[in-house]
Amino acid sequence: MAGWCNKKVIGLSPMDGVTDASFRAIIDKYGSPDVLFTEFLSVEAIVNGSINSLLPFVREKSETPTIAQVYGLDLPSYILATLLVLELGFDGIDINMGCPAKSIAYHGAGAGLIQNPSHAKQIIKTVQTTFLDWKNGLRLKSGQLKPAKFEWIKQNRIKRSKIDNFPVSIKTRIGYDTSTVQSWISHLLECEPYAITIHGRTLKQMYKDKSDWNEIHKAVVLAKNSNTKIIGNGDIKSAGQANNKIKKYDLDGVLIGRASMGNPWIFKSIVPTPYTRLTVALEHARQFEKLTPSGNFQSLRKHFAWYSKGFDYAASVRNKLMHVNTYSEVKTILDPYFLLLKEK
Ligand SMILES: Cc1cc2nc3c(=O)[nH]c(=O)nc-3n(C[C@H](O)[C@H](O)[C@H](O)COP(=O)(O)O)c2cc1C
Repeated sequence: MAGWCNKKVIGLSPMDGVTDASFRAIIDKYGSPDVLFTEFLSVEAIVNGSINSLLPFVREKSETPTIAQVYGLDLPSYILATLLVLELGFDGIDINMGCPAKSIAYHGAGAGLIQNPSHAKQIIKTVQTTFLDWKNGLRLKSGQLKPAKFEWIKQNRIKRSKIDNFPVSIKTRIGYDTSTVQSWISHLLECEPYAITIHGRTLKQMYKDKSDWNEIHKAVVLAKNSNTKIIGNGDIKSAGQANNKIKKYDLDGVLIGRASMGNPWIFKSIVPTPYTRLTVALEHARQFEKLTPSGNFQSLRKHFAWYSKGFDYAASVRNKLMHVNTYSEVKTILDPYFLLLKEK
């Protein structure tokens, strides 16, 4: 694979607390997007955190390119994080420079990097050169990570045949408190990243107002004579809208985030029946237990709320699922509804 964006792509946007291995497996099976992104993981946590902090990078089996997203500031930690991502067999690494959360951006990481382009560029170059070193034989060494993490890597890696190419991409916003696409994206392009995904809001806007696709298009113009792909993001609610945005703004692709919650079918423009929605909710629970047995089942409850919308009995299903802790509890609750909703 030469890269994950060889054609116009419609992909799953990274979402912390949402795009874990079980959700990606479900999205992949029922939506077949062109690319999947993990939740983000701090490079510092990769190095110093517990084994459980690696859960966002648990691998589901998939033919679809899957990109590991990282964030943070510490350059030596970026080196180790890149080596770990390579060991796990991901199809690329994405550096988050767009997260507006105070706990991240106010420390200078995520969207905080928009105000510190020189450090942002150092991060990109560090990750890119780590891949070159990896091609020349550099590997994680004992002592650099806790011994249990090496065991974890062995259990979770998906071997790729030969890695000639390792796309390093960025996900960011149009600016910090005002749009600064011209200068900010020009800085990023100096490093020749594989792709830049741009959410059309500033950090200050958080999720207010609309994603500004004219600002995203300015990045397309800037990148015209480069090899960097420009991916748009923000407020897409259907595959039709995704295709329209790609055409209208001359993009290499788009990522869909919130509209995929409880709706893996969005990528295929399929409207599922209530029976199918609940079948997939149950399958999601099974995947969660299988892929992340040490994960907290509570984090699945929001998914159940998203699946249980817009049909008879939805409110009662939703309420009951808000207290579940295991797959078998989910099954016990859903079984009577399968009978009620069974299609003739
Ligand atoms: C719950 C949640 C978690 C998110 N976590 C991440 C993340 O880990 N990394 C990232 O780059 N963006 C993250 N985002 C931003 C989304 O990827 C996306 O850029 C944003 O939601 C706009 O796209 P949408 O309108 O299609 O949702 C998150 C968004 C939400 C709603």
